[in-house]
Order: sequence, then structure tokens, then C-alpha cells
Amino acid sequence: MSACVFAFILTLSALSRATVESGFVSPPTNVRLTSYNMNLVLRWSPPEGAASNLLYSTEYRTSVTEYSVGFVNISTLECDFTRLSHLFISEHGKYFGRVRAQVGSESSAWVESNNITLDKDTIIGSPNVSLISSGATIEVSIKDPVFAISALRNVYIYATYNITYWKHSQPEKARHISNIKQNPFVLNDLDPWTKYCVQVQINTERNPIPSKPSGIVCERTTNEEEADWVPALVSLIFSVAAMALVVIAVVYRKSISNILCPKDALPQHFKEYLLTPHKVSIITDDTSEDGSPLEATKMTCSKQLDVTVFVDGRTRDLTASEEQ
Ligand SMILES: *[C@@H]1O[C@H](CO)[C@@H](O)[C@H](O)[C@H]1NC(C)=O
Ligand SMILES: *[C@@H]1O[C@H](CO)[C@@H](O)[C@H](O)[C@H]1NC(C)=O
Ligand SMILES: *[C@@H]1O[C@H](CO)[C@@H](O)[C@H](O)[C@H]1NC(C)=O
Ligand SMILES: *[C@@H]1O[C@H](CO)[C@@H](O)[C@H](O)[C@H]1NC(C)=O
Repeated sequence: MSACVFAFILTLSALSRATVESGFVSPPTNVRLTSYNMNLVLRWSPPEGAASNLLYSTEYRTSVTEYSVGFVNISTLECDFTRLSHLFISEHGKYFGRVRAQVGSESSAWVESNNITLDKDTIIGSPNVSLISSGATIEVSIKDPVFAISALRNVYIYATYNITYWKHSQPEKARHISNIKQNPFVLNDLDPWTKYCVQVQINTERNPIPSKPSGIVCERTTNEEEADWVPALVSLIFSVAAMALVVIAVVYRKSISNILCPKDALPQHFKEYLLTPHKVSIITDDTSEDGSPLEATKMTCSKQLDVTVFVDGRTRDLTASEEQ
């Protein structure tokens, strides 16, 4: 109980020192303007020995405008100006903030912060990285940090990624690829059946400090050819089987046709009887076909063809010369 009373008296005396004793409210201390992912946050510490019930008011300005009202009568020790709907914040603007403490109707003097140029000074947060392994390659997909105003690709058109990757078992042998513009990016100089870990940072031309590094994510590669190999083998097996079927069909054509139309079922003499007159008739047919009528037909055809071509060529020549 006595401790409580003692603390109460201490607080009272502190409050009276901060407000009454010196005749005015002591100003906040350690006032600084910061930016993370393009927000604009003013932070401060309470006046020394101040009571905990102090209220604060904040204002902001650019390097070329007067101060405008920010947050009024807040009890927190920070405020984010990008949350003010009436404030237009430019990605490239230079900003100042100021804050004063208030007790009742009394106010401290204003304390001005440092200035910051948003795109140059903001701290870029870490990108979010996910990996997809395919055979002996790993696809790295990068999600840019979300900005309070605008988007990373709008503010930093020439932003690039710096990918660091290493075998999980050999973190000391890390490799870097910087200046990467593609997203997703494929790592393809990897060993099969190996666990790799990846970390990504964003570099911008305008902001000298690279982003916070991403979290480390790891993924295992599989067999180098597996992806292309399996379907290729399956189609190879199918085409070999199809070719084998064709070969079998050709080689055993006679046997197959024998099975389908069994010749040997007929007695030998009956077969001879059937075949002999048939052969004769075929020979007769052949002779008649190979005779002069066919050659005569060929001659006629070639003659007709010659004439046609000759006439055509002449006609074209004539037409061409007429046109000239
Ligand atoms: C802030 O607090 C002061 C003192 O209590 C009061 O006079 C003023 O009206 C308040 N302002 C707003 C915008 O609430
Ligand atoms: C803004 O801050 C920088 C360094 O923090 C300082 O050099 C510069 O003078 C400041 N600009 C103004 C207009 O106060
Ligand atoms: C990264 O993205 C994944 C999937 O979208 C999400 O689950 C995770 O919370 C994100 N991590 C961070 C740090 O944003
Ligand atoms: C890329 O990141 C690695 C690890 O953070 C760093 O050592 C390297 O200097 C960076 N390279 C560039 C060009 O930023």
C-alpha cells in the first residue's frame, strides 16, 4: 500500500516538474521519421519524467509545403502518415514530421524530425520466395513486398533480384546470381537428388540499401531426365510393339492366310485339278496384256503429252512477248 502511495507521489511530482515547475509542457524527445515498405512513420519518446496520460499531435510537410495537420490527440508514441486518407504522399517526395505533447489545454513546443525521401530512404522489406522442383531444376518464384503506397515495380522500375543458393549440406559454397529480371527464375545448374536452399534480395538503383533478405527456403531436386524420360520410354515401347506386330504379320503372312483360308485341307489331287486350268488362264491374260495394244497406248499417251507441253510452252511465250 505504502509502495503504491509512494509511486503515486513520484508520478505526481514528475508530472508537476514536466508541466508546472518549468511553466510549460516538456516536448517529446528522440523524434524521428522512418519508412518501411514506403510507409511514413513518425516516432518519438515521451518527455523526460512525463506522466503516462500525455496526448500528442503530429504534423507533416514536404520540403516545399507548409505543415499540415496529421494526427491529433493521440496517446501512442508513433503514427503512420500514409494511413491518413486526406494526405497525398508522393513516392519521390521529401518529408518532415513534427510532434508536440499536450496536457489539457497546454501544449509543448513542436519538435521537428529528420527528413526522408521516401523512395531513397525507405527500408525495403523481404520478398517472399517459393520453390518448385522439376527434375534437376528448381523454379524460384518471388513475391515482392507489399508497399504502403504504390507498388515495388512502380516505384523501382529497374529493380532486380539477387538469388543466393547452396547445397543444404554445403552452406559455405553458396553461389550468387545478381541482376535477375525474370520472375520466376529457373536454377538449372543443379545436381540431381540434392537438397538446395535459396535466399533472395531485391536491389534497386534508387535506393542504396538492398531489401531485407527473404526467408531461406529449401527444396530437393529429383532425377535429371525423369521428367522427359518416362513418357519417352512409354512411347518407345508402344512403337516397338507396333513395329513387331507389323513384322510378324509380314513374316508369317502365308501362315496366317493359311490359317484363315486353309489350302492343305483340300486333297492334293483336287488342288492340282483346281490350280492347273487357273494357271493357264493367268498366263493367257498376261500375254494378252503384255502385247502390242499396251505399247501402242503408251506411245499415244506420250505423243499427246509432248504436243500438249509444246503448245502450252509456246502459248506462254507468246503471251509473255505480247505483254512486253
Ligand atoms: C485535443 O485535445 C484538446 C485538449 O483536450 C482539445 O481542446 C481539442 O479540441 C482536441 N482536439 C481534437 C481534434 O479532438
Ligand atoms: C535532410 O536530411 C539530410 C540528412 O539527413 C540533410 O543533410 C539535409 O540537410 C536535410 N534537408 C533539409 C532541407 O533539412
Ligand atoms: C509467403 O507466401 C506464402 C504463400 O502465399 C504465405 O503462406 C506466407 O505467409 C508468405 N510469407 C510471408 C513472410 O509473407
Ligand atoms: C547478392 O547477395 C549476396 C548475399 O547477400 C551478397 O554477398 C552479394 O554481394 C549480392 N550481390 C549483389 C550484386 O548485390
